[in-house]
Order: sequence, then structure tokens, then C-alpha cells
Amino acid sequence: PRNQYDDCWLRYDRVSDDRRESYRRRIKHAYVAEESPECSAVRDELREAIPGLLGEDVHLWQHRPETVDGFLAIGTPGDMEVIKESIPDGAVDDLDDDGYLIRSVEYEGQDCLVVTSGADQGLVYGTFHLLRLLNMGEPIDEIDVREEPAYANRVINHWDNPFRRTVERGYAGESIFDFDRLPDLRDRYEDYARLLASLGINGVVLNNVNTEYYPRGSTNEASQQFDGWRLLESRRLEDLTSLASVFRRYGIQIYLSVNFGAPKRIGDLDTFDPLDEDVRQWWREKADEIYDLIPDFGGFLVKADSEGQDGPYNYDRDHVEGANALAQALEPHGGRVWWRAFVYGSHEDRAIQAYDTFEPLDGDFAENVTVQIKNGPIDFQPREPVSTLFGAMPETDLGLELQITGEYTGQGVHATSHLPMWKEIFEFDTHADRDGSRVQDFFRGDGEGVVGVTSIGEDHTWTGHYLMQSNLYAFGRLIWDPDLDAETITDEWITQTFGADEAVLDTVREILLDSWEACIDYETGGLGLIHMMHNGQEYLENHYYPAPEEWPGYHGATEEGIGYDRTATGSGYAQQFRDPVASRFEDVETCPEKHLLFFHHLPWDHELEDGTTVIQRLYDNFYDGVEEAERLRDLWMTLEGKIDDRRFEHVATRFDEQVHQAEKWRDVITGYFYDFAEIEGEKGRVP
Ligand code: GCU
Repeated sequence: PRNQYDDCWLRYDRVSDDRRESYRRRIKHAYVAEESPECSAVRDELREAIPGLLGEDVHLWQHRPETVDGFLAIGTPGDMEVIKESIPDGAVDDLDDDGYLIRSVEYEGQDCLVVTSGADQGLVYGTFHLLRLLNMGEPIDEIDVREEPAYANRVINHWDNPFRRTVERGYAGESIFDFDRLPDLRDRYEDYARLLASLGINGVVLNNVNTEYYPRGSTNEASQQFDGWRLLESRRLEDLTSLASVFRRYGIQIYLSVNFGAPKRIGDLDTFDPLDEDVRQWWREKADEIYDLIPDFGGFLVKADSEGQDGPYNYDRDHVEGANALAQALEPHGGRVWWRAFVYGSHEDRAIQAYDTFEPLDGDFAENVTVQIKNGPIDFQPREPVSTLFGAMPETDLGLELQITGEYTGQGVHATSHLPMWKEIFEFDTHADRDGSRVQDFFRGDGEGVVGVTSIGEDHTWTGHYLMQSNLYAFGRLIWDPDLDAETITDEWITQTFGADEAVLDTVREILLDSWEACIDYETGGLGLIHMMHNGQEYLENHYYPAPEEWPGYHGATEEGIGYDRTATGSGYAQQFRDPVASRFEDVETCPEKHLLFFHHLPWDHELEDGTTVIQRLYDNFYDGVEEAERLRDLWMTLEGKIDDRRFEHVATRFDEQVHQAEKWRDVITGYFYDFAEIEGEKGRVP
């Protein structure tokens, strides 16, 4: 079955001759601690990687190999003498559980490499770090690494629909999770756990946040009913134990998205009012049952009172009352509720609603509740300003939700790297007070973290597009260490995925790092417009494609001008920020051009800083974006013969489609704006 899917970045090709001797000396013999499931995973990884790298098998020892020149030692200081004696006292005690050290040391005349941590999970991460260095051909003879993750919770959210094997906003085929066949396991589960653990991911939510109903887009009633809520049924929970043990070996906890109405749907109660004592008791018993089966279960993710999902509002309760009812049930077991703040519908401008709803609740959530907030106030747009909730709830544990799948960035067809976007979000300075005021500083508590919505599927590529594996990779690396720059992460991915050829490295780096701005231009016109984009049909089964009737609510176009007024004279989103951010967005003169029409409604002929009018800039950006997509495609075409045909052709085909879609959309949208403005393009391109 392994040949049914790609190895992604865990390929382990033969190292160059000039590295081989030094590697061989320190890793051909490995002494790994005995005890835990994690250590058995570590041994498996060495068995997998080292033959590829060295061209010969690894020799695994159950005690220190005394008769050889050198060896690799992996364990906690308590596990083995060599580690205890070669690492200074306290160096490991100082580390978080997930942290680790990698050091080259000399031990009784032998050249060793030590990977150590205070906990078994850290050994898994440390091992993958070492393998990454080897895979990239880095020197290891004088190595001294100390690592700890920036965020305690590093979680993947699947939007997979159990029993149907569909994936919402998924562009990589069927769901890999075959819940109907559990407890039977598939090899793919383990290989997926390996990919995630190699990045330091420590949690996976197995099913879609929509547990009962699909929000929109389908005309077929039956296909709108989901049954993820059934995962809380006793027989289904029993089935999950096998899957949990696969992930456990790699230090990953499993979580479930749960339906707030479960006490009524699954239990025999006639209410799910969170203040009803029977309902609270039902959740307690359900939690006890889960932890009996899966003692390290992570907790629940909840989408409540959002896009048709049940919630506390059914009983006139608020989000605190809802979240805390579930939290009290998980609390004795150390579990956590991740409660989403993605709510809209009651306000004309959806951007302002999450803040209005959640900011007043700050301080009232139970200690084991994390409020999970999307990066922006709308919905994973190619670019939008950050959520005003960051920094506004100092007494509440927060989680940042990012989208790894390309719902709005080309849906598995376009090559769009999200890493530059995430960097922009992480670096944004909210001027709110905490230990730091950049967005990335708000999730560093024990009950906090960063979450990514992924679209892994049965496709050979896992992600629907070989280049889009880079988004999963980048997500994991960035949330382990947000100080890594985009270039470093991208280069790591390319080198491990395509090998060390300089031309391939330079070319793929340029494509990925430039792809996001190109996408913004050809999809949105680059001035902050949202929610209008064309993603074509060819590779798509499900996607949200707002009809032209819906567009005006997003772009605010009239005969006079375009943009959505979110200043004090409009919906007031700008005012939800703190100063100086609020006044920067509020004032047309200081609002960055990239967010201009998100915050302001402006005349079509309003002049931008360089004298160009708004309408002309939109025309230009749509045209330039298409040209940029063409340039990136041409760059890809130079790689023919430099990488394997399978991946070359796959990406080339999609690039053609990407350019075609971008052109088509450019013509539709520039024509559409022309009909309002009736201003011809200066360069003779519109109409
Ligand atoms: C978007 C997306 C939906 C998803 C929702 C959510 O609206 O299109 O498919 O369910 O976000 O995050 O809950």
C-alpha cells in the first residue's frame, strides 16, 4: 500500500559521499531506550531512514555498543548512563516535555550523538529533527541543538465527514479515515502520524466541525446531512481506541468535534440545555466513558450556533454556559474544550460579530476552555486584516485557527504557498498588551496553541497537489518555531522533497514565495476585496462560489465607488482595534493599500499614493496577477528533466489550469467592475 501514496518530505535518499563517513560513524549503531510506545516508534524511524541514507542497515542495540567507534544514543537521562554522564546536570530538567537536545559528544573514546529529552515525546521530535538534518546533508560532527516548541498545543483539524469519507473543502479525494472499518487499521494512518510527528504536531481532531449539517452550497438535501455526531456513540468510541494507539506512538493526542445537541441525539434526554443538571451529568458520563477507553484523549472541538449547528442559543444560554458545561465533564480527566468563535449572521457586517459576542465574555470561561479564533474576521480570505479578538481577551485561553487547505487560494489546483500569509499574520502588531503584542504572542499559554484546517486525502499526493504538501510542512514548522523565516522553512521542504539540486531549490523557492501575492492580485485585485474568486470546476467536488447576487454585500460597488465602509461611519470594525492600529485603518490616508477597500468605500477615481485611481489599480492588479501566474508556470517548466516526470507533469498540468482560471476570472471581474464604474482602462485592456 505504501506505493499508493507519496513519501512527501520523509524520503531519505542516499547521502553524498563526503558526508557518508561521518554519518556512518555516529548513526550506523543506535542504542535506543527500551520502554515506551514512543521509543518503539523511534526505532521504526531509524530502521526506515538509515538504510536509505547510508545504503546499509542500522544496527539497533539494547545496551551501549562498546566495541564500535561511535553510536547514536536516544533516551532520557534516566534511561541510560551515556546520556546522564555526557549531558550536564539540569540541561534536560530545564526543557518542556516536548523539548529536546541533540549533541555530538565523546564518550569513553567513542564518537557519539545524543538525542535526549525529559519525556518520550521529546525523543520522537528530537529523532525527527536529527533525521531532517541528515536528510538535508547537514554536518553533525559538532552539533549542539536545543529546541522547545513555541506553543503547547499544535493541532490539526480535519474537516472529514465520518462514514461518508468526504472532506469539506478537501481537494485530495476521499477521507483517509475509514471509520466504518475501525478498529481495523490502515498503513496510511501510521504514515500520516509519522508526517505529523516529524513536524512536532501533537493533536489531531479527527472529524469535521460540521457534525450534523453542511452549511450551504449543495442543492441535494440528503448530501447536506452529516453524521459526525455519531462518533460519540459507545460502539464508535470503542472503535477509536485502535486509531488512538497509532497516534499515541508518535506523541499525538486525538480529539473529536462534537455536536452540542448530543445529549438529545445520542442520549435519551429531551433537552441539551447546558444548565440542565441531567445534561451536565450526561456529558460527565460520556467523558468518563471516553477516558476509560482512551486515557490520553485530548478533548472536544465545538462549532456551536454557527452556520446551522446547534448551540447554547437554542436555550437562550450564552457561549460561556455552553462551553463550560462540556468543560466540567472533561476537567477531571485533564481534557480541554476548543470552542470556536466563528459566528456570524446577526450583524449586517459579519466582521464585527465575533468581537461583539466574545469580548464581553472574557474571564468567564472555565480554565480548560480555549476559544479558537480564525486569523481574520471573515473566513480565510487570501488576505484580510487580523481578528480584533487577539489581545482583547486577556483572561481567556486562545487558539489561532489557520487554514492549510486552499479553500480560497486555488482549491488544490493553484500552487499557492500560505507561508508568507501566515508570516504576515504572525508578525502583525496589535498594540494590545500581553507579553508581546504581535499576533503570534497571544497563544503561548499551556492551554493555548495554533490549529490548522487541513485537507489530507486518499490522493497519491496527500494534499491534492504535490507543491501544496509544502503548506502542511510549513504550518508545522512555523508553529514549532515562529521565528523561522519563510525562506528557511521553504528551503527545508524543497531539499527534503526534491533533493539538493541548486536549480530546483532556487526555482521552487521562487515559485512558492511569490505565489501568494500573485494569487491575491488575480483573485481579489489586491486592494482588500474579499469573497469573490473563481476556482474553476475541473478538480472540484465541493467549493463555495458565491453567486454574483451575493457579491455586492462583499465589495460594496455602486456607480460612484467601491469598498466596504468599516470605519466609524460604517460598521466600525476598524474601531475594534486598539490605537494606533484603529486610527491607521480608520484614515484613508494611512490605511495600507492592501486593506483599503476592506475598510473604505471610495470613489472609483479616488487617487492612490502614486496617482493611480482605484479602478485603474484594480484593473492593473488583476492583469499583473495573471502575468505573474504565467511567469511562475514558466519557471516550473524549466524543471523538466530535473525532477521525476510524475511530479513534474502533475504540477505542470495544474499550472496550466491555474493560469486559465486566473485569466477567465480577470475578464469576468474587470468587466463586472467596468459595468458599475464605466471607466475604461488606461492601457486599453478593459473593457
Ligand atoms: C467556511 C467554510 C465552511 C466551514 C466554515 C467553518 O465558511 O466554507 O465549509 O464549515 O468555514 O469554518 O466552520
